[in-house]
Amino acid sequence: MPEQVSEKIILVIHGPNLNLLGERDPGIYGSMTLDALNQKIETHVENSGYRIQCFQSNHEGELIDFIHENRKKASGIVINPGALTHYSYAVRDAIAAVDIPAVEVHLSDIQNREDFRQISVIQEVCLTQISGLGIQSYIKGIDYLIKRINLY
Ligand code: DQA
Repeated sequence: MPEQVSEKIILVIHGPNLNLLGERDPGIYGSMTLDALNQKIETHVENSGYRIQCFQSNHEGELIDFIHENRKKASGIVINPGALTHYSYAVRDAIAAVDIPAVEVHLSDIQNREDFRQISVIQEVCLTQISGLGIQSYIKGIDYLIKRINLY
């Protein structure tokens, strides 16, 4: 009988307003839609031994519920918390509580935008923060995460 290889799961989580990718401020966030972005990430992880599970919500509590609900089956998290990055201690606590390696990503370069965007309350509970590379922030975030998970 062929051996069953169980795929490991990485949660790709998008916060508020990221459902509008492609039409929201394309000069800052690019022209790719969220569906196309998720598809690109999915294609990127093919043959990596990992499978992605994508989720977007405009609601803080739903993001937290998603993290909790999937905590037993996920090997890692890539999260773009949107504006919640800058003030959500609840999302921060959820990531810390589940103790799953996480990477914070941003399409835009948050260090070179308005003052309020330069603060991330999420960063400390993540392995790293990757920002300013457009959709490549997600790709680099996934690669970084997989490398780190494979070291454990
Ligand atoms: C963002 C940056 C945040 O400041 C903003 O609120 C977003 C998107 C980014 O990907 O660049 O919604 O997280």
